[in-house]
Amino acid sequence: MARKKIVISIVGARPQFIKLAPLAARLKSKCRHLILHSGQHYNYEMSQSFFDQLHIPAPDLNLNVGSGSHGRQTGRILERCEKAIISNKPDMVLVYGDTNTTLAGALAAAKLGIPIGHIEAGLRSFVRTMPEEINRVMADHISDLLFYPTPTARKNLHNENITRGLVRSGDLMYEILDGCRPIISRNKQAFNNHGVDAGEYILITLHRAENVDDPDRLEKFVEILEQIRHPKLFLAHPRTVKTLRRFELTRRIKKIEDLIIDRPQPYLETLTLMSGAAAVMTDSGGIQKEACFLGRPCLTMRRETEWLETVDSGANFLVDMSLSKINRVLNRNLRPRRQQQYRINRMKPSEIISGAIMKYFHDHR
Ligand code: UD1
Repeated sequence: MARKKIVISIVGARPQFIKLAPLAARLKSKCRHLILHSGQHYNYEMSQSFFDQLHIPAPDLNLNVGSGSHGRQTGRILERCEKAIISNKPDMVLVYGDTNTTLAGALAAAKLGIPIGHIEAGLRSFVRTMPEEINRVMADHISDLLFYPTPTARKNLHNENITRGLVRSGDLMYEILDGCRPIISRNKQAFNNHGVDAGEYILITLHRAENVDDPDRLEKFVEILEQIRHPKLFLAHPRTVKTLRRFELTRRIKKIEDLIIDRPQPYLETLTLMSGAAAVMTDSGGIQKEACFLGRPCLTMRRETEWLETVDSGANFLVDMSLSKINRVLNRNLRPRRQQQYRINRMKPSEIISGAIMKYFHDHR
C-alpha cells in the first residue's frame, strides 16, 4: 500500500494558528499532517490559548525561537526548519500569511526541493518597507500552490507573472469565525469582565512595526486616544507595550480617562469584544476582516490595506494616524454591510485547500 503523504504546516504567530485550525481538522483524515510551531509567539495568550480554544492538535515540533531582530528571528527559524524538514521528509510544506515564520519556513522547504503551499497568497500593500510585504512576496515567488483568497490577490499574482499553481480558496478566517458565531453571541459575560458596555466602546489594537516602532507615530496614537470622546478598550500587543515604555509614553497613556488597557485576549474573547464594539480601530490585517465579517465598522490606522474588498464594501476606512479622519468616520451613522461570500462553489476553504493538495500529489506521482 502507498505510504500516506506527509504534510507539515509551519506556523508561529497568532493569525497563523487561526488559519491552521479548520485546515488541520480537514487534513487529519487525508494525510499525515504534522504541525511545526516556530515559537515566534510564545505567551499563553498569543499562542497556547488559540490551540486550546480552537482544538488544534498540539504541535508535533517546536522550534522555540522566541523574539529577536528580523534577521535573527528569520535566520533561526530557517536553520531549525531545515533540520526538521530533513528528519521528517514531508511531501509538502504549508506556510501561512506573511510573518517571519512564513518566509523562513518557505525558504527552508524551497532549498530542500520540497513543494510549498502558501495560504493567503497574493496579498500586497505595495509598501516594501513593511516586513510583511517582503515576507509575502518572497513566499509567493517560491510556492508551488498559491491559495489566494480574493480576486485582487489573483490580479496581484498575475501582475508578478505568477500564473501557475493558483487556487481560489476563499478565506479560512471566515470559515473558522462562522463556526464560532453561536459561542460569540452567548458570551455576554465578556463585556462585564472587561468593564465595558456592549455597543458603547471602541475596541483598539496596534502592533505593526511602522506604527509602534516609530516614536512620532506612536505618540500620535496616544494623542488620538486622548482626544477621542468614546469609552475605549485597548488590547495591547507585547511589542507595543515595550515601545510605549521605550519612548516614555506609558505614564501618559495610563492617565487617559475612559481608556481601559488590557492584555491581548484569546480568540473567542477577541471576537466577542469585536462584535460588541461601536467600532474597531486597528492596524491588524486579520482584525480588519473579522470586524467586517461581524458587521462592525473598522478604522484602519494605516495608509493602505491588502484587503481592498473591505474598503470597497464600505465596512473599512483607512484613517492613517489622523485624528480628523478618525473623527469624520466616528461622527457618521455607520452601517457596514456584512461580507458573507466565503464559500466557492459551495465548498468551504479548508475543503478546497485540502482537495487541491491531494490533487497535487495525484498529479505528481
Ligand atoms: C508578527 C508578524 C505580523 C503579524 C503579527 C500577529 C512578522 C514580521 N510580523 O508581528 O505579520 O500580524 O505577528 O500578532 O512576522 N512578543 C511577546 N510575546 C509573544 C510574542 C511576541 O512578548 O508571545 C513580543 C516580543 O518582544 C517580540 C515582539 O513582541 O519582540 C514582536 O513579536 P514578533 O513576532 O517579532 O512580531 P509581531 O509584532 O507580533
